[in-house]
Amino acid sequence: MSRPVLAADELLKRILSQEVEARSSYRACYLGWAEAFVTDPRLMLLSLDDHMVHRGDGVFEAIKVVHQKPYLLKEHLDRLKVSADFISLKLPVDLQTLSQLVQETLEVSGLQESIIRIFISRGSGSFSPNPYDCKKSGLFIVATEYKPIAQEKYLKGVRIGKSQVMPKSSFWARIKSCNYLPNVMMKKESVDRGLDFTVSFDESGNLAESSTENMIVVDQKGRLCRPYLNRILKGCTMTRVMELASQYQVLSSVVEDHLTEEDVIRAREVMMVGTTLDVLPVTEFEGKKIGNGQVGPLAQKLHQLLLNDQF
Ligand SMILES: Cc1ncc(COP(=O)(O)O)c(C=O)c1O
Repeated sequence: MSRPVLAADELLKRILSQEVEARSSYRACYLGWAEAFVTDPRLMLLSLDDHMVHRGDGVFEAIKVVHQKPYLLKEHLDRLKVSADFISLKLPVDLQTLSQLVQETLEVSGLQESIIRIFISRGSGSFSPNPYDCKKSGLFIVATEYKPIAQEKYLKGVRIGKSQVMPKSSFWARIKSCNYLPNVMMKKESVDRGLDFTVSFDESGNLAESSTENMIVVDQKGRLCRPYLNRILKGCTMTRVMELASQYQVLSSVVEDHLTEEDVIRAREVMMVGTTLDVLPVTEFEGKKIGNGQVGPLAQKLHQLLLNDQF
């Protein structure tokens, strides 16, 4: 045998000698099993036998932090609980404690602006699919630097295409689980095709969502529409943007509707909405211009309302 069998101290040395470029933006992590924080990204580890690793058996949330305030924290925590309930995954702490731990992770990170991710895993068990082998759910909270997408994308809009990946069935679409292979494949195809994003359409040709973003459209009648919630995740950003649109009477009508490819191409404006990008205008779908191919006034207005709401 040419490779060594390592003792704990020898392995730790190797762990500490690893450098991974992407990790430079990871600033703090709460490790539930240790009931402690770490700031060294090399120590933000979880065990291979955790069901979250080998079965995607866990749920998560990503929350934007603006001036040290986690935006829509309650909404995200409520959705985390809903996701966990769907798969009978017990939260290791109550939501109030979780909220407190989010704040503490943020404090440890020292970040003013951040993306906080919470992961609840089924926990360590056997390597079998049986969730009952896992005795205790795991909790991980990670604070990373917030890296907004290029300002140019907000000024010029993004180019999107039709995904080959089918939307999830209604049950799975509503769960923000760590089983995100279809979402990963959507992101991959957009990168492979040189597009900013792809969006999925269901078997009846109705628009669903993007990899980790919701879609909203100002249709030809001037209504702000979102797809029905049955094949998409109910985004906290989308929900808040629709509320703000109603509250400030940005549009006379804010509705749910079926939206086909044709509706997307002929829309006055199309926008992507999500935690990491807020409101991002779309100016091209499958090589065809939306409207006059410029960013529309409503996308700008809704983006500004959302940014104001974050302060
Ligand atoms: C599949 C999916 N759709 C939509 C969204 C947008 O949701 P939110 O606005 O809560 O970030 C997300 C968020 O990551 C997602 O994973």
